[in-house]
Amino acid sequence: MAETTSPVKTPEYYSVSFWRRWSRLYDRVVTISFLPFGGEKRFRQNFVNMAGIKSSDRVLDICCGTGSTTAIIAPEVDQGHVTGVDLSPDMLAVARKKVVASWVSFQLASVDSLPFSDNSFNHVICSYGLHEIPKDIRAAALKEVLRVLKPGGKFLTLDYHLPRYFPARQTIGAFVRVFEHDIAYKMMRGELAAEVAAAGLNLQEKKTPLGGMFQIISADKDR
Ligand SMILES: C[S@@+](CC[C@H](N)C(=O)[O-])C[C@H]1O[C@@H](n2cnc3c(N)ncnc32)[C@H](O)[C@@H]1O
Repeated sequence: MAETTSPVKTPEYYSVSFWRRWSRLYDRVVTISFLPFGGEKRFRQNFVNMAGIKSSDRVLDICCGTGSTTAIIAPEVDQGHVTGVDLSPDMLAVARKKVVASWVSFQLASVDSLPFSDNSFNHVICSYGLHEIPKDIRAAALKEVLRVLKPGGKFLTLDYHLPRYFPARQTIGAFVRVFEHDIAYKMMRGELAAEVAAAGLNLQEKKTPLGGMFQIISADKDR
């Protein structure tokens, strides 16, 4: 897979120091948050299973953070490769310690400017990443996803979702308002699946697990 090298530009919305502080706490907070929902690992594994990854596939995990989803993908591609990309050197440092294998690599990059050639990956995966990114940059990021996917390649993303009904709507709405930021709340109120389609990907499925508090969207690129 050809990689292109150019200096990493940090978008204005992004705070390296915020993610430096979070890198020390992130895994513990996420583990605790998922205890009421049957545990983080099981949730991530069910998510990754939806991708239908083959052992020889090349997979890109965007906004990989501390590599918790990369760690689930890694054993599935022992004849292929998984690359984790994130804009935080500190989150990546945790990921590099967590997921160690010759077929796993991590790279500092912004998702709206991915350092990979066109048609490089069978799968692009994103867990809890898109809500961090303002809508215009998210649109550019989704175009990058389309560009780096091979023809027929698949995109799978997991993120917050605002369900219609009480009490799930109030629960996740309050959680995101208190612990996240306006970008996340706006994304949740909008239509992420439509954004994915607007980038030129073909929508396959949208699931809304855990009472609709999360959404899993799958899409693919034309063959
Ligand atoms: C909530 S964390 C999710 C981490 C991981 N995917 C998971 O499932 O736990 C969001 C991550 O997105 C990264 N991020 C935000 N904007 C980004 C961008 N423009 N390019 C790459 N990574 C970005 C942050 O650095 C952070 O590590």
